[in-house]
Amino acid sequence: MKLIILGIQGSGKGTEGKLIAELYGLKHISTGDLLRKEVIEKTELGKEISSYIDKGNLVPDELINKIFLKNLPKDKFILDGYPRNLSQAEFLEKVNPVEKVIFLELPEQEVYHRLGLRVQCKKCGAIYGLNVKPKKEGICDKCQSILERRKDETPEAIKKRIDLFKKETLPLLKFYKSRVIRINGNQTVEAVFEDIKKLLQ
Ligand code: AP5
Ligand code: MG
Repeated sequence: MKLIILGIQGSGKGTEGKLIAELYGLKHISTGDLLRKEVIEKTELGKEISSYIDKGNLVPDELINKIFLKNLPKDKFILDGYPRNLSQAEFLEKVNPVEKVIFLELPEQEVYHRLGLRVQCKKCGAIYGLNVKPKKEGICDKCQSILERRKDETPEAIKKRIDLFKKETLPLLKFYKSRVIRINGNQTVEAVFEDIKKLLQ
């Protein structure tokens, strides 16, 4: 199985991507998580990356493609956050084309609501928010590390990310045409997951 999960910011790519990966035994590849890992580890590359992502800009294709390829297995994967523009989609098509693209649809006003409540584990990447609350506030259920807000959750950076999504990422729906599965992302996490499972069969 080779999948992409696509959708506007906060539509649940990370949340549903992890559930799908667990159910079907896939590797969940979130390019956002890979980039944030470099930043946390304070590598030279991390410094360059944070100058792009903190403001909500895209990391240049050449750089992201290198990081992405290093983490891409031959089969059994779900991509979250990649490809994000036509040039990345064309690159992926050459190196390892996917079978299906899950597109999570969510109204824009819901994005601000969800991102305003999201916290993420710095260590294991677990996501909490609106309807997934940690048992102990501010502490990850899975690895007991501290939960944090992301640096790109300022109103300016969120607006930039949404604008870039519309301009650069939405055209991918035309690129993938019949491989796209549309899912109503404006339901509970469980209901979205049920719809995905039904449509993947
Ligand atoms: P990335 O980390 O991919 O961020 P994003 O695309 O902006 O998407 P988000 O992670 O914000 O949203 P999500 O859809 O994963 O939602 P989540 O499941 O967390 O990218 C970050 C940056 O990295 C980019 O801006 C760019 O700079 C760079 N980058 C990454 N990939 C790149 C690439 N290919 N090329 C160039 N640059 C790249 O859910 C959100 C919240 O909602 C959570 O709190 C969750 O608990 C909650 N939630 C989820 N589902 C539901 C539900 N059904 N009901 C209620 N609440 C829900
Ligand atoms: Mg995400």
